[in-house]
Amino acid sequence: MAGAGFGVTGFPHLVQGMGHGVRANSLIQLAVVGLGNKGGAHIKDLFEEPGARVVAICDPDRARLEENEALFKERGREVGCYTDYQELLSDERIDGVVIASPNHWHALMGIWACQAGKDVYLEKPVTHDIWEGRQLLKAARTYKRVVQAGTQNRSDDGFRAAAEYIRAGKLGRILWVHGIWYQKRESLGRVAGPQAIPSSVDYDLWTGPAPLEPLRRSRLHYDWHWDWSTGNGDFGNLGMHQLDDCVWILRKTGLPHRFFSGGGRVSWDDDGETPNTQWAVFDFGDVPMMVEVRNLPHKRGVDYMDSLRGVRRGNVIHCEGGTFIGGRFGGRIFDASGKRLEQFPGDGGATHMANWLQAVRSRDASTLRAEIEDGIGSARLCHLANTAFRSGYGMTQKEWMAQAEFHAAVEAAGRSFGEHLARNGMDPTQRAVSFSPWMHFDEEKSVYDGGDVSVNLIANALVRRYYREPFVVPELV
Ligand SMILES: NC(=O)c1ccc[n+]([C@@H]2O[C@H](COP(=O)([O-])OP(=O)(O)OC[C@H]3O[C@@H](n4cnc5c(N)ncnc54)[C@H](O)[C@@H]3O)[C@@H](O)[C@H]2O)c1
Repeated sequence: MAGAGFGVTGFPHLVQGMGHGVRANSLIQLAVVGLGNKGGAHIKDLFEEPGARVVAICDPDRARLEENEALFKERGREVGCYTDYQELLSDERIDGVVIASPNHWHALMGIWACQAGKDVYLEKPVTHDIWEGRQLLKAARTYKRVVQAGTQNRSDDGFRAAAEYIRAGKLGRILWVHGIWYQKRESLGRVAGPQAIPSSVDYDLWTGPAPLEPLRRSRLHYDWHWDWSTGNGDFGNLGMHQLDDCVWILRKTGLPHRFFSGGGRVSWDDDGETPNTQWAVFDFGDVPMMVEVRNLPHKRGVDYMDSLRGVRRGNVIHCEGGTFIGGRFGGRIFDASGKRLEQFPGDGGATHMANWLQAVRSRDASTLRAEIEDGIGSARLCHLANTAFRSGYGMTQKEWMAQAEFHAAVEAAGRSFGEHLARNGMDPTQRAVSFSPWMHFDEEKSVYDGGDVSVNLIANALVRRYYREPFVVPELV
């Protein structure tokens, strides 16, 4: 804990009481914000959560509001329905908000909630850019709120047991870690021009801090992940879990000495912007950490995906005395000969929300498994990687592999990355994918420095976004 280096000191273990007079044994009253895949799942889970009650829901899409309101009616329950998040925040019944809106809204919603005296469960990535992290942390600390990041693998009982085993030194030193999520996705295709916004959606509220531009893809919901103004690509989506797992295992709260990232939206010519294949290397000096996402199949024309040591989503944590393979839902430890030493069955992080609710009740934020400072730290590494990709330039495989030569495991991962791309049609001799050179981010000054000046120039413009009035992350929280 601590050390995200934002100059916000004094982690408040015991934070201020719930804003609206909730007593230690009464129901915690919640609002769920953003009613898509994840918000819907949170509502269903919270129906089963003793001690908490969802009293309000919020989404600028009235159709989604009505669908979800119906779930409450089926149970004979009333729920307050809001399209405007700021109106919801003035609802005095609400003690805490569970935020599952698109990423570009996360930090602002989190900050406003803290200012309104609500506790927050905030989906990953908890920020959309680096600057937001500082402001969100200041808000959590200033208003003494209990804020949990939605990186639930930290609550997986199997992964936790494995982490304890590794941290106890039973496998010796950690030598390198590699988090992967290989999940097939399809190209979005191309639309001919601006698309109609569904009539049920208040697009101004949906867009919030992002530029209010015509929709240039077929689907508004979910596919915002692939547009830099609203999402963070699959690296900030599925990759975010693996990145957080690796950081948590390594107990890294600060920044790497140097990092690079590369990839591309390979073999698709469509309306999406973000890479469908991306690899990032973070060099912490003592140990390299790699995170990788692949959306393309093993090779052109097949349906199945690659795997790494038998997994398609998970982490390989390589130690002196053996290797852990797994993450969410636990995993296994093997010795150097491949013999299984231990098995840790997991629960998928099922108690992550309950962990937040307990801390909301006790006011002891130190018991949170993904306290917001940790969530901000992991999101920041995701932004470093995405910024590296976006500020990079075309490199041949030989050129980007030269950067991997400092470590055998990184070199092997780079080779595998190149082979995967080649099987999907990339010519390794062409500058077909974009890579950054090694980069460095100065935590105190909040600037990319050293290395390639022109790359840093592009990167520094991405530290803080332009906010559309009145949806502005405040300078002073
Ligand atoms: N922790 C996990 O395992 C996990 C899994 C899936 C998604 N997520 C996260 O949850 C978030 C939502 O993902 P999703 O797949 O449900 O996306 P989605 O597009 O299906 O849903 C997002 C919803 O937010 C709504 N929204 C937009 N602006 C809003 C506003 N101003 N106020 C309230 N609601 C607003 C949208 O209308 C939409 O209904 C993402 O940040 C994603 O990273 C986390």
